[in-house]
Amino acid sequence: MSTIDYSVKIPNNVDLSGDRTLQRALESWQPNFIKWWDDVGPEGSTHYDVYLRTAVSVDPQGWAQFGYVKMRDYRWGIFLNPAEQDRTIHFGDHKGEKAWQEVPGEHRANLRRIIVTQGDTEPASVEQQRHLGLTAPSLYDLRNLFQVNVEEGRHLWAMVYLLHKYFGRDGREEAEALLERQSGDENNPRILGAFNEKTPDWLSFFMFTYFTDRDGKFQLAALAESAFDPLARTTRFMLTEEAHHMFVGESGVSRVLQRTCQVMNELGTDDVNKLRAAGVIDLPTMQRYLNFHYSVTIDLFGADQSSNAATFYSSGLKGRYEEGKRADDHALHDQSYKVLEVVDGKLQEKDVPMLNALNEVLRDDYIKDSNAGVARWNKVMEKAGIDFRLSVPHKAFNRQIGALAGVRMSPDGRPVTEQEWESRKNEWLPTDGDRSFVASLMKQCLAPGKFAGWIAPPVMGINRQPVDFDYVKFQ
Ligand SMILES: [Fe+2]
Ligand SMILES: [Fe+2]
Repeated sequence: MSTIDYSVKIPNNVDLSGDRTLQRALESWQPNFIKWWDDVGPEGSTHYDVYLRTAVSVDPQGWAQFGYVKMRDYRWGIFLNPAEQDRTIHFGDHKGEKAWQEVPGEHRANLRRIIVTQGDTEPASVEQQRHLGLTAPSLYDLRNLFQVNVEEGRHLWAMVYLLHKYFGRDGREEAEALLERQSGDENNPRILGAFNEKTPDWLSFFMFTYFTDRDGKFQLAALAESAFDPLARTTRFMLTEEAHHMFVGESGVSRVLQRTCQVMNELGTDDVNKLRAAGVIDLPTMQRYLNFHYSVTIDLFGADQSSNAATFYSSGLKGRYEEGKRADDHALHDQSYKVLEVVDGKLQEKDVPMLNALNEVLRDDYIKDSNAGVARWNKVMEKAGIDFRLSVPHKAFNRQIGALAGVRMSPDGRPVTEQEWESRKNEWLPTDGDRSFVASLMKQCLAPGKFAGWIAPPVMGINRQPVDFDYVKFQ
């Protein structure tokens, strides 16, 4: 069951041929997906042979097979983790009952909404990243970008399968709509804010895959706990793919820092203009990009107090991160949690029922996880003997959603006046000047083993191939 059948049009481990109606429905969605890929997927990439991994089994030992593939021929398909026998629901008001193999009528609308919202982010990021191939700093990086892109495409397939199989006609309509909305489109945008932002340069891409794909990890991890078993099994497999996306971001930022530190030491300066003239990205600009991507991403967790979040948890649709590892009653009716609010221009903590604060709980777990990687980035500066350190801004900084929306806050968590915000926001968020400087560095560098001057080579290649391997072949 866990082996994937590649002899069919839609590779899968869900016995698709045993359900002809579903198979036909998905086979008729498939050409629309390919058309979407051709229209708004990676620009100019149609004839490239890309060294990609493809899922061949969902077993942890060896699910990936590497080889050259033209991306539009990538074996997108439907892969679920194997079913756990007699799995029971382990949180919420249905705790102890059998997990659901079908969608209970009373939770249908909420489950559909959760799946559509998750599904919408997958094609959105492909759209956001579609021009990046034209300015790739190396073949290695180009290949990583494309790997992320095809896997986001597969994540879309994962959600579309659930919609088609379990939600009938409105599921099919939602699956169509997932190909119709477009990132940044004025009339028909993607559902969530961060997925309508531009990813115009590779520094943004690395920050996005570090911070925003990590939001994906936390959302998927919460859905992997779901009482709706097909959703839990689908998202578990997606999580194994997500790890690579975050690796691309973390190592990407780390390599940019490494290169900047190297040039700082060579020139013996931290003067921004001199460093920019030398073609590297200065550390204060790195911090501003970080501030932007971090704040936009933590908004994705939603309002700090939310009755929907309570409903999703109590009814078993969406758990907490690592629900199984927590030592509490997994019902949370009597528990409270601290959220921030603004009173007379000052931030205050207040206790609210934990069930209503579950977005905040997930956001705080995310923040801890993000901080760990930032500490690893700081090791790069430490090793190079440079005393600059990156940090994540305060969680009230630059927020657009929840009780902290519109509160003027410095990155270190000090409430500031509108006047101070206006006069200092250029120190805190990327300016047009920063963006156009970074854009000026974005030039394709595609000779095997060569890297653009603003980024260091990786320590090792992909799948134990050498760094100067021919990761993408152009015809
Ligand atoms: Fe994804
Ligand atoms: Fe991802």
